[in-house]
Amino acid sequence: MSFLARTFSQFITRSGTTASTLLTKPHNVSALALRLSSTQQSGNEQKKYDYLLVDVKGKDSNIALVQLNRPKALNALCDGLMKELSSVLESLDRDEKIGCIVLTGSTRAFAAGADIREMQNNTLPQVVGGGFLDQWSAVSKIKKPIIAAVNGFALGGGCELSMMCDIIYAGEEAEFGQPEIIIGTIPGAGGTQRLPRYVGKSKAMEMVLTGNRIKAKEAYQIGLVSAVFPANQLVDEAIKTAEKIASHSRIVVQLAKEAVNAAFETTLAEGNRFEKRLFHTTFGLADRKEGMTAFIEKRKPNFTGQ
Ligand code: CAA
Repeated sequence: MSFLARTFSQFITRSGTTASTLLTKPHNVSALALRLSSTQQSGNEQKKYDYLLVDVKGKDSNIALVQLNRPKALNALCDGLMKELSSVLESLDRDEKIGCIVLTGSTRAFAAGADIREMQNNTLPQVVGGGFLDQWSAVSKIKKPIIAAVNGFALGGGCELSMMCDIIYAGEEAEFGQPEIIIGTIPGAGGTQRLPRYVGKSKAMEMVLTGNRIKAKEAYQIGLVSAVFPANQLVDEAIKTAEKIASHSRIVVQLAKEAVNAAFETTLAEGNRFEKRLFHTTFGLADRKEGMTAFIEKRKPNFTGQ
C-alpha cells in the first residue's frame, strides 16, 4: 500500500513506533502524545511538520487533536502553518477512523492572527494576484465537526480561525478580538462576516472598529463561545464533547453540520427546505433505521456510517 493511501490515523500509530518524538504537555493531555513528522513523503524521505502537533485521542481513538505549535510567534498564522493545517484537516476529513477534530493552541495563545511580519511588505498586486489568504477557507470546508479549544489570545486571523470551527470552547483566560484596525487593515478571513452573524451587528462593529479584545466570560455571554472552562481542563472537555459527537452516526453528523451551516448562507424559507430534504435523506440510511430501532428496543445503537 502506498504511503498516501494509508489513512491518517494509521500513520499516527505507525509513526508512534518509529520516528515520533514526545509532545510537551501544555494543556494536561494525559496520554502519550506523538509529534507527527509527516503525512507526505517522496520515496523514503519524510517531510516534517513545522507548525503542528497532531495526536489521536479518546477511548475509541477516534478524536484527532491538532495543536498549533509556533510558540515564539504566539501561533501567528503564517502561510506555512495554514498550508500544513489545511492539509492535515483534509487528511483527517478523509480518515474513516476519525469522528471529530479538536483544534487548539497553547496556554498563551490559540493564535495571535495572520503573520504581520510576513505580510508587512506585501503589495496590492501581490496579494490580489497571489490570492493572499485564499487557502484559509479550506478549514471551513471540512465536513467533520471541528471544536476550537481556545486558551489565550484568539486575535485577528486567530479569532477568525476559531469562528471557522463548529463549536468554540474557551479557557477562562482566553481573549478574542479583531484588532486589524489598529495595524491599518481590516479582517480578511471572515471576521467582518462571521462575527456579526454570531454575536450581532453592534458588538461585531464595536470589536472590528475599536480593535478592543473581549475576555472569555463576555465571549460566552454574547454567544461567541458555548462554554468556558479552567484553562487546564479545556482540551479534555473539548475531547469529551468530541467523543460524544463521534459516537453518533458519521454520515448523520455530517448532514447535521451541513444543515446548521446552511442557516448562515440562506433565507429562512430556503434553509428550512434544505433541512427538510436532508432530514428526508436520513430515511435512506441504515443508521437512521438502526437509531430508531435501538430506541424502541431500549438498547444502544450500533452505527455503521451507512
Ligand atoms: N504576527 C507575527 N508575529 C506576532 C504576531 C502576529 N500576528 N503576534 C505576536 N507576534 C510575535 C511578536 O512579534 C513577538 O515576537 P518577537 O518576540 O520576535 O518580538 C512574539 O510574538 C510575542 O509577542 P509580544 O511580545 O507582542 O507579546 P505580548 O504578550 O506583549 O502581546 C499580543 C501579545 C497582544 C497578542 C500582541 O503580540 C499583538 O498585539 N499581536 C498582534 C495581534 C494582531 O494584530 N493580530 C491581527 C493580525 S492581522 C490578521 O489577522 C488579518 C486577518 O484577518 C487574517
